[in-house]
Amino acid sequence: MPFFIVQGDITEMQVDAIVNAANNSLLGGGGVDGCIHRAAGPELLKECASLNGCDTGDAKITGAYRLPCKHVIHTVGPIWRDGKHGEENLLTSCYERSLQLAVDNNCSSVAFPLISAGVYGYPKDQALRVASETIVGFLKDHELEIYLVIYNKSDFIPDRQRFEELGLLLDSEMASAALARAPIQQLDEALNHLDESFSQMLLRKIDEKGLTDVACYKKANLDRKLFSRIRSDAAYHPSKPTVAALILSLELTLDEAKEMLAKAGFALSRSNAFDVIIEYFITKRIYDVYEVNKALFCYDQRLLGSK
Ligand code: APR
Repeated sequence: MPFFIVQGDITEMQVDAIVNAANNSLLGGGGVDGCIHRAAGPELLKECASLNGCDTGDAKITGAYRLPCKHVIHTVGPIWRDGKHGEENLLTSCYERSLQLAVDNNCSSVAFPLISAGVYGYPKDQALRVASETIVGFLKDHELEIYLVIYNKSDFIPDRQRFEELGLLLDSEMASAALARAPIQQLDEALNHLDESFSQMLLRKIDEKGLTDVACYKKANLDRKLFSRIRSDAAYHPSKPTVAALILSLELTLDEAKEMLAKAGFALSRSNAFDVIIEYFITKRIYDVYEVNKALFCYDQRLLGSK
C-alpha cells in the first residue's frame, strides 16, 4: 500500500491510528503532543497516566476518544544532541515500533508527524530522511496506508541541492519538443493497425524488466486493486500520476516514458510543474517514487501513488 506526504493537522486525519510525538512521561506537553491531547479530551490523559511512561524509541497505544481516528500511538523520539549518541537508531525505532503496534492492532492506515523535528531539535532534513526510509522499508513487507503529516511547510526541508536544481528547471522557459508523427493518410488503414495499447505496453515492459506485478505496483506506490484493474481492463484509462508512477517503477527512458504517456493520452509539457518534475527525475534516472513525491509535495503538486 502507498506512502503519502501531506500537509495538515494530524488531529484531523481520518485514519485508523495517528502517532503522537510524546515525551517519556506520556503526560502531554506542547507541539503535536499538546494538539492531540487537546483534541482527544481529558480521557486520553487519564489512559496515558495508567501506562507508566514510555522509553525513548518505544511506543504505546491508547484509544483516541474525541479524535476522528481509532487509536493514538504514543512514541518518544530522541532529543537531538549531535548525531553521535544513537539518535538515528532511536528515531528509526520510533517509526518501526509504532508501525508494528499499528499492524498488531489491525490498523490499515496510520499517520505520523515528523517525530523529534520540533522541540527535540532533530535536523528536519535528517528527520524526514529517517522517516521516509523507515516507512518505505516497512512497506516492502507490509500492506498499510501510511501518511507523513507536515504541519508547517517550512518543516519540510528535503535534499536542498536537488531541489535547487529542480527549482532552476521549473523557472526556466524551455520549448517542449512536440511528438512529431507522420500524418494519418487512410483512416481505415490506421484503425486496422492501432498501436500497442497502454496496458499492452505496460505488460510488455514488466516482462522485459523481469518484474513481478507485486514488485511493479509496490515500486509505483500503487495499491493492488488499482493495478489489477489496469492490468485486466484494456479500456481502463489511468490518471497521469498513475502512469508516471508506473514509468518510474519500470525505470523507463525519457523516450519510452513519452511513448507510454502518449498511449494513455498524455504528454509532458514544460509549462506544467508536475510534468517538469517528472521529466527531471527520469532524465536524471532517479526512479525512487518516494523521492519524486518529496519534490511534488514541495511544489504543491499531486503525489504519485494511489489510495
Ligand atoms: N499536526 C502535525 N504535525 C504537527 C502538529 C500537528 N497538529 N503540531 C506540530 N507538529 C509538528 C511540528 O511542526 C514538528 O515538525 O510535529 C513535529 C514534531 O514536533 P514536536 O511536537 O515539537 O515533537 P518533538 O520534536 O518530537 O518533541 C517532543 O515536545 O510537545 C513536546 O511533549 C512533547 O516533550 C515532547 C516534545
